[in-house]
Amino acid sequence: MNPTLSWLEISRSALQHNLRTFRELIGNERVLCPAIKGNAYGHGLKECAPVLVEAGANWLCVNALFEAMELRASGCEVPIYIMGYVPLNELNIVVENGFRMVAYNRETLERLRDICRQLQMPIYTHLKLETGNNRQGVLETDLDAILEIYKSEPMVILEGTATHFANIEDTTDPSYARFQKENFDRMNKKIIQAGFTPKYVHCANTASTLLYPEMYENMVRVGIGTYGLWPSNETFVSSHHMGAKVELKPVLTWKTRVAQLKKVPANAAIGYGGTYRPRYDSVIAVLPVGYYDGYDRKLSNIGHVLINGKRAPVRGRVCMNIMMVDVTGMPEVALEDEVVLLGRQGDENVSAEQMARWVDTINYEVTTRINERLPRVVVE
Ligand SMILES: Cc1ncc(COP(=O)(O)O)c(C=O)c1O
Repeated sequence: MNPTLSWLEISRSALQHNLRTFRELIGNERVLCPAIKGNAYGHGLKECAPVLVEAGANWLCVNALFEAMELRASGCEVPIYIMGYVPLNELNIVVENGFRMVAYNRETLERLRDICRQLQMPIYTHLKLETGNNRQGVLETDLDAILEIYKSEPMVILEGTATHFANIEDTTDPSYARFQKENFDRMNKKIIQAGFTPKYVHCANTASTLLYPEMYENMVRVGIGTYGLWPSNETFVSSHHMGAKVELKPVLTWKTRVAQLKKVPANAAIGYGGTYRPRYDSVIAVLPVGYYDGYDRKLSNIGHVLINGKRAPVRGRVCMNIMMVDVTGMPEVALEDEVVLLGRQGDENVSAEQMARWVDTINYEVTTRINERLPRVVVE
């Protein structure tokens, strides 16, 4: 039984195409590590992971331990890298399961050292270096002290170093990213001078993988592009200015059905607050989707859906579980017709970017916000 009344179709061929695109960019020698945090950017962790692995993902990166556990339980066998916070009292689970994890503070490394000694098991860590993002990461001034912890216990392994760009997709100017990369290079040099040889060095997200080969190092963590979405207009424009012929294919189509059709006379108030009154006798299609499902309430009286390949505007407020769209002049629309909330139908398309513009956010948030409980179905 479906827990809700809309569903997501996940295109296997689009996922494969996007992964192939990134593989062609980085070559076969580098580790391609798609980011599947945030329920695979809303596309479904369990549904996307096997397709990505089959298509050549070498590693997968997640944000949290529970995501890593879910992947492991689903039979995922490639290395799983946890990029986010793990509470100190759950670090033993990371060690026991052999997950890779980010390290960025003394407390976590010291606790890992105790756990490794107790369990007689190693932990493979990737040291996150603070290069200009000023969120997660070790300051250059603290680097020596952190390296001392690694020196004190060989089972705490410095397998990799990482950083993350702060200002790469919001601009066509690469200077801040280059500044961060210089900081990263300098800190990496210090780590090598201290006697360490991290096997993996990585900083590239989607934007840097699309635009700057010099940022590849030997592993890339590609998130949004995996799902066929560009990180930003700026990234798209920069790529095309460079003459790159990269095509990304959106992976997701969010669908529902017409639950009721009804005639609404001119000037009748539609929905909570009566925020819409049609100027003409209208036909309204009632859809069994609302903000509970992740259809943003800010789309009230703004968004469009697609029915029979045509745009139908949202009328009145989006409710928790119901929304109304205008199908006046579309006599072919029938009860239980398929409706596309996000994605393509016929020649029309409601893109994540368009939806993001409507509600003043980014495509990342649009797809990630789609309720996890909605069924994700992998289609060809
Ligand atoms: C640490 C880290 N690496 C990689 C990514 C992937 O970024 P993108 O989705 O822009 O490719 C993210 C996403 O925010 C991230 O936080």
